[in-house]
Amino acid sequence: MKIACGTDIIEIERIKNSIERIGKKFLNTIFTDKEIEYCESHQNNKYQHYAARFAAKEAVYKALNKVSNVGHVNWKDYEIINNVYGKPEIIILDESIESMDISISHCKEYAIANVVILYK
Ligand SMILES: CC(C)(COP(=O)(O)OP(=O)(O)OC[C@H]1O[C@@H](n2cnc3c(N)ncnc32)[C@H](O)[C@@H]1OP(=O)(O)O)[C@@H](O)C(=O)NCCC(=O)NCCS
Repeated sequence: MKIACGTDIIEIERIKNSIERIGKKFLNTIFTDKEIEYCESHQNNKYQHYAARFAAKEAVYKALNKVSNVGHVNWKDYEIINNVYGKPEIIILDESIESMDISISHCKEYAIANVVILYK
């Protein structure tokens, strides 16, 4: 078994500006319907949740770069879904990946995500 990790930090303001400027086109390029639904259900700080998912996807991408048999991936090839306890999980279909885990944190200015992948 091999291990790969990825991390990303992002300014919330950057994502907020993109959403306000480009709107639905930006959202629908980056996020799945379920991710949008989750973020929109947190109206008070929805940009923190969007930014966290953006960072999560960058972190997954960095980790996947080490998993050589996973080819090119797009933003919506995987999604971040919170389980019943609120813990985020990555949903991705790839046979070479044995297990993956993600952790997310965000505050007023920044969002950060860390990903660990176990693969064959
Ligand atoms: C869940 C908790 C850790 C979140 O921490 P926070 O400082 O409020 O918020 P953060 O910005 O750091 O983290 C938010 C992210 O935590 C993640 N999260 C939420 N519940 C989680 C859980 N049960 N397990 C793992 N991650 C969780 C989510 O990804 C969330 O972001 P999202 O809603 O955009 O997906 C916190 O609310 C909590 O319950 N703390 C209790 C700690 C405690 O009891 N400590 C004493 C014993 S160690």
